[in-house]
Amino acid sequence: MRNWNFLGFLYLAFILRMEALKFHKNDQHTERISGSAGDVLEDNPVGRLKVFVYELPSKYNKKTVQRDSRCLNHMFAAEIYMHRFLLSSLVRTLNPEEADWFYTPVYTTCEYLTPHGHPLPFNSPRMMRSALQLIASSWPYWNRTQGADHFFIVPHDFGACFHFQEEKAIERGILPLLQRATLVQTFGQRNHVCLKDGSITIPPYAPPQKIQSHLIPPDTPRSIFVYFRGLFYDDRNDPEGGYYARGARAAVWENFKDNPLFDISTDHPTTYYEDMQRAIFCLCPLGWAPWSPRLVEAVVFGCIPIIIADDIVLPFADAIPWEDIGLFVAEKDVPYLDNILTSVPPKEILRKQRLLANPSMKQAMLFLQPSQPGDAFHQILNGLARKLPHHHKTIYRDNDVLNWTAGPVGDLKPW
Ligand SMILES: *[C@@H]1O[C@H](CO)[C@@H](O)[C@H](O)[C@H]1NC(C)=O
Ligand SMILES: *[C@@H]1O[C@H](CO)[C@@H](O)[C@H](O)[C@H]1NC(C)=O
Repeated sequence: MRNWNFLGFLYLAFILRMEALKFHKNDQHTERISGSAGDVLEDNPVGRLKVFVYELPSKYNKKTVQRDSRCLNHMFAAEIYMHRFLLSSLVRTLNPEEADWFYTPVYTTCEYLTPHGHPLPFNSPRMMRSALQLIASSWPYWNRTQGADHFFIVPHDFGACFHFQEEKAIERGILPLLQRATLVQTFGQRNHVCLKDGSITIPPYAPPQKIQSHLIPPDTPRSIFVYFRGLFYDDRNDPEGGYYARGARAAVWENFKDNPLFDISTDHPTTYYEDMQRAIFCLCPLGWAPWSPRLVEAVVFGCIPIIIADDIVLPFADAIPWEDIGLFVAEKDVPYLDNILTSVPPKEILRKQRLLANPSMKQAMLFLQPSQPGDAFHQILNGLARKLPHHHKTIYRDNDVLNWTAGPVGDLKPW
C-alpha cells in the first residue's frame, strides 16, 4: 500500500510538471484571476479613512525596543511596524477633529521577553491601562465614545486577553477597558471570548527581508508531497498529552511518521524555507493557538496550506480567498490525511498553486518595508475603512460608561 502511494505520488509529480509546462506554453503572461475567482480584494485605503496617532512617552513604545531588539523580528512585531507605518502613512491626520480612527501606540508584547525571547504579558494590562488613562485625561476623544473609534494592535497569543495559556486567557477575558475598541490581533477563533465581533485578524509577523533572501527559482519542481516541521507533542507544558494542539499534531505524527509521502519531523533544518518551496502541501495545524507563522510561510512560498484548526478565523478573511488557495481538514479527520491529500485532483492542485503564485497573496501576508500597496498594513487599513462610517447610535452611548476599576485588582496597580 505504501509503495503504491509513493508511486502514485511520482506519477502525480509527473502530471503536475506536464500540466505546468502546458500551462506556460498556452499562456505566456501571468494569469489574472479576479473577483470571486480568488483574487485578494484590492481596495485602496487612501482617501477612505483618516487616522490620528496619539503621541505617547517613549516608554510605551520605542524604549521597549531599545531595551530588547528581539522584538523587531519576533512574530508579534506587527505592533512596532504598524506604528512606524502609520507615522508616515497618507491616511494619517494631524488634526484629531477630522479623524475617523484613533491609534494608541503601545508595544505590549515587547514590554517583557523571557531569556528565550517569548513575551510574557503579565504587565500588559497595566501598561495598556496606563496608556488609556493618559489619552483619556489628555484628549477628549476617548471619553467621547468610550473608545469605540479607537483601534489597538494586540498581537499576543490570545490578543487582549493578555495571557499565553488559553485557560487563563479565557478566565481573564478581554481587558474591560478595551470592550468598545477595535482590536487588531493575530488570534482568531470563532466563538471565543478572546475574539470579539468586529476585530481584525492579521497574520503574524514574518521578517520580509529574511523571506526574500531564501527565495529559490519559482520553477523549481515540488518534489515533496507533504511537509511539516515543528512540535507534535509539547511534553514540558502538556505531559499527559492531548491538550497541546488538541491532539491534532500527535495524530499527524502517529499516523504518518513512516509514510514516505509525509516529510514531517521536529528538526528545524536550515533549508526550512527552501523546503517549503519544494513542497506541494504544507501542514498548518494548530498549536497552543489556532494560528502559527506556517500559515504565512506557506502562502509566501506557494505551498498549499493544509489548515487543521477547527473554527479558525484566518487573517484578512474578508479579503483573501482562503478556501481557494488552501485546504481545510477537520481536526478529527487527521488520520485520513493521506487519503484526503492523494485524492485532490491535479487540476485542483494546479489551480491553487496558480492562485498562490499571484503576488497579491504574498503581499497581503507581509508587513513590507517599505510598505507597498496591498500589503498587510494596507489590509489592516482596509479592514478599518470597511467599518466606517461609525454609527452614531452605537458610538455615543451615554449610559454605557466604562468601569475603570473593573477586572482583576492586580491590573489596577500603576505601571
Ligand atoms: C475622561 O473620563 C475620566 C474618567 O471618568 C476622567 O478622569 C477624565 O478626566 C476624563 N477626561 C477628560 C479629558 O475630560
Ligand atoms: C466597577 O467594577 C468594580 C470592580 O468589579 C465594582 O466593584 C464596581 O461596583 C463597578 N462600578 C460600577 C459603577 O459598576
